[in-house]
Amino acid sequence: MSLDQNINKILIIDFGSQFTQLIARRVRELGVFSEIVSHKKIKLKDINRSIKGIVLSGGPLNVYQINKYSFDKKILQLDIPFLGICFGHQILSKLNGGRVKQSKHREFGLVNVYKKNDSLLTINFFGNKKNKKVWMSHADQVSKLPKNFKVIASSTNSKFAIVENKIKKYYGVQFHPEVTHTESGKKLIRNFIFLICKIKKNWSSKDQRNQLIKDIRKQVGSNKVICALSGGVDSSVVAQLLNKAIGKKLYCIFVNTGLLRKNEEIQVVQTFKKRLKMNLIYVNAEKEFLNNLKNVYDPEKKRKIIGNLFIKIFERYAKKIKNVKFLAQGTLYPDLIESKSVTGSQTSKIKSHHNVGGLPKKMNLKLVEPLKFLFKDEVRKLGLELNLSKEIISRHPFPGPGLAIRMPGVITNKKIKILKEADYYFVQALKNNGLYNKIWQAYAALLPVKTVGVMGDNRTYEYLCLLRAITSEDGMTADYYEFKKSFMQSISNKIVNSIRGINRVVYDVTSKPPSTIELE
Ligand code: XMP
Repeated sequence: MSLDQNINKILIIDFGSQFTQLIARRVRELGVFSEIVSHKKIKLKDINRSIKGIVLSGGPLNVYQINKYSFDKKILQLDIPFLGICFGHQILSKLNGGRVKQSKHREFGLVNVYKKNDSLLTINFFGNKKNKKVWMSHADQVSKLPKNFKVIASSTNSKFAIVENKIKKYYGVQFHPEVTHTESGKKLIRNFIFLICKIKKNWSSKDQRNQLIKDIRKQVGSNKVICALSGGVDSSVVAQLLNKAIGKKLYCIFVNTGLLRKNEEIQVVQTFKKRLKMNLIYVNAEKEFLNNLKNVYDPEKKRKIIGNLFIKIFERYAKKIKNVKFLAQGTLYPDLIESKSVTGSQTSKIKSHHNVGGLPKKMNLKLVEPLKFLFKDEVRKLGLELNLSKEIISRHPFPGPGLAIRMPGVITNKKIKILKEADYYFVQALKNNGLYNKIWQAYAALLPVKTVGVMGDNRTYEYLCLLRAITSEDGMTADYYEFKKSFMQSISNKIVNSIRGINRVVYDVTSKPPSTIELE
């Protein structure tokens, strides 16, 4: 294994925790470069002078199993600061002569830790109350500290919740400072990297951009890459990153399903073909999608038909480009966490997700997934760094099956037209009132219900339009956005007065759970 010698870094040795990438993210957020390596691969000889500190991650193992996994324990003898997190903390203790055993009381979730001694690691961490809520997730714990270790903080069930050996610069925490649930967890990481490792800031979005471009060039060489472009934030950033890295060797395929937001196809062609000069293959498949969806009202059937058709069309066009070796996808880090079942149990399927990822396995292409270690906000920052417009970067998420799942019941051309207009007016109103960026996702839906209204002196009998606007951090949970009455009145008037086919507007006030963000 060869680690870059030119840039100072914090090395994160991964023992299989689902949070390892989060540790890297926190270090990056603090402006310092970090690299993750597997504990099975890293050897003493790989540690070079650029490594200013080492974090040992958590993990599902038990310290007594560690011999089976060839972790080079000599690394711990180096004169470099170490921070052990959860399992990493247990290893630091065990391999220095301490003891680890199964806890009588397993701790999962928020727990108070109480300050016992001062440490560089906890400067500004404990407030006046001298305790802090931290997030624990462990079954084993350190039961006896090695020589020269001192307790810095304890919880009711973990006597050695924070420990240090000042001479050897070993620091251990039984909880997870990298997760947002741990109050001020980032302060611990900041203290470790700046006060203990004494590393200087050396990492920005620009550095990240350059590094990703370098990595892509290294991975794909002079081969051709195809990318399914949806016009959403993730696929747009991936396409632009590859465009910068390999230019005309990238071929983007954009499928207009007819289920996109109003004018979306025009914007995508304008941006990517005209402005950014990419190889963009525009496929108008509106009719094909509509034909295949005729008389289908079951949400899961809709999703399957759209997903399969998308792949079929994508394959059809991809085959026309000869000698393609790679497929670029906008997989993000949360997608990776979610697809990995941490407990090993089967999670129940709510919806069959379709997105431009998950593309043709049988095409035998290697994957390029440059965003796979990033979170949505990091992707947005990267997009700005890549000169993508604010408009693209700050767009609300849009589902792969598009308007089809915002139109319960059968899909018709007429309904699509009505819905596109309603959605357009809603989104424009949000933008005009400075609300768009305060909301995580907002859209209009068309319900398969007609109600009676009166316009002028005439009776109307038309569709019901539902508006949904939610706040969320990651789409996993959500709450409805509370608009002022004046805004609701004006958007309701605008939609009913401007669109033939809608005579009533309702606002969805359910959170997720129990509802989902989309209707189907
Ligand atoms: P739900 O409706 O499951 O949505 O609460 C959570 C987030 O996922 C988006 N979504 C999708 N995104 N393909 C996608 O790329 C899909 O099939 C899909 N279904 C839902 C939804 O818009 C929300 O942001």
